[in-house]
Amino acid sequence: MARDPRDQTQSPIPGLSLETRLTQLGRAGVRIRGFVNPPLVRGSTVLHNSCAERREAGRHRLEQELIYGLLGTPTHFALENALAAIEGGTRCQIVSSGLAAITTSLLAYLGTGDHCLVPDSVYGPTRHFCDTLLRQAGVETTYYVPTIDPDSLAALFRPNTKVLFLESPGSHTFEMQDVPALARVAHARGAAVLMDNTWGILFFQPFAHGVDVSIQALTKYVGGHSDIILGGIITARDSDWEKIRNASMTLGQYASPDDCWLALRGLRTLAARLKQQMESGLKVARWLATRAEVYQVLYPALPGAPGHAIWRRDYSGACSLFGVVFQPDIAEDSMIEMIDSLELFGIGASWGGFESLALPTTGTIRRTAAPPPLAGPAARFHIGLEDPNDLIADLERAFKHLRRV
Ligand SMILES: Cc1ncc(COP(=O)(O)O)c(C=O)c1O
Repeated sequence: MARDPRDQTQSPIPGLSLETRLTQLGRAGVRIRGFVNPPLVRGSTVLHNSCAERREAGRHRLEQELIYGLLGTPTHFALENALAAIEGGTRCQIVSSGLAAITTSLLAYLGTGDHCLVPDSVYGPTRHFCDTLLRQAGVETTYYVPTIDPDSLAALFRPNTKVLFLESPGSHTFEMQDVPALARVAHARGAAVLMDNTWGILFFQPFAHGVDVSIQALTKYVGGHSDIILGGIITARDSDWEKIRNASMTLGQYASPDDCWLALRGLRTLAARLKQQMESGLKVARWLATRAEVYQVLYPALPGAPGHAIWRRDYSGACSLFGVVFQPDIAEDSMIEMIDSLELFGIGASWGGFESLALPTTGTIRRTAAPPPLAGPAARFHIGLEDPNDLIADLERAFKHLRRV
């Protein structure tokens, strides 16, 4: 596929570090009258000089052509190109949410009579989509144990298996998947590998590890301020791009350019935020691991935690979302009292913002392939940009609520 002349994925200087590229991507070539940032372009109608010109533009719907607002504006394209570059891909489609990025991708590859393989630890709304609309469309889903070995995964493939879905680490339980080994099994059987790579943002290069389609909930760290909902689907091959772009256009997927502009702004500080949040996340996780009330910290970046070896092999860093399993004899209601008493951790869904969050996960986890690997009551923590010493002091105060049964 010919490169679009407006493509901004290529830096004029080769070999720049990711931190430097994050200050450049999505800006090259669009500096308007000296302003640092690209303008925010809103719009539905795009005017053409002639009918012939409009017809010609329509022939390039898979490209970043200005045809109609629904098919993208320069603001969308700037973000799409930056994200494609960050993930090591070539193309990106922005959609309305992280969940829409998942559902659009699944619909792009699956049709009536097809079968897909999804990890048992998948983000809950992904499971809901598979169990409802995807099933209604005649697609069957098999849930597999996320840490499955390649031979056991191979045994689950059927002649009509079209998609292997991955999410690593898993939602709430944080199992790491051996992505290259599982992707090899899928490719040997002609299936596409789709991955929710939201946790791995910046730190996991999906295409270098065998993934065909990488899905990002930009709502999280890219937005970074808990004020937008946005999704991105990134591909590295023309054949995958055509499927994703066609499905997105057919579904009428869209996202506000205002949100894209905010995501572009989020990119400028993404590396610095993540560096700080990983450092703070590790500090809090280490403290948690020393506490007698804690059975296990589910943070793949923490030495000794489940999945640490795969994380060390495949990742260059980590975000600041992890799980904590309390001792089996800690009363669940006392864990909830502990979370309710936290002053600096908000109680709420989502993650990736500047603020710390805590959420009980026990009771919200649905598993069908195997029971959840949790010995006791569990919670999920997101570590924000607060001083980690203040967060630890807050946790220490709150831990007084924990009671043994
Ligand atoms: C792993 C994962 N993927 C996708 C999503 C969906 O993102 P959004 O809220 O933008 O739909 C979430 C949201 O929490 C998530 O945790």
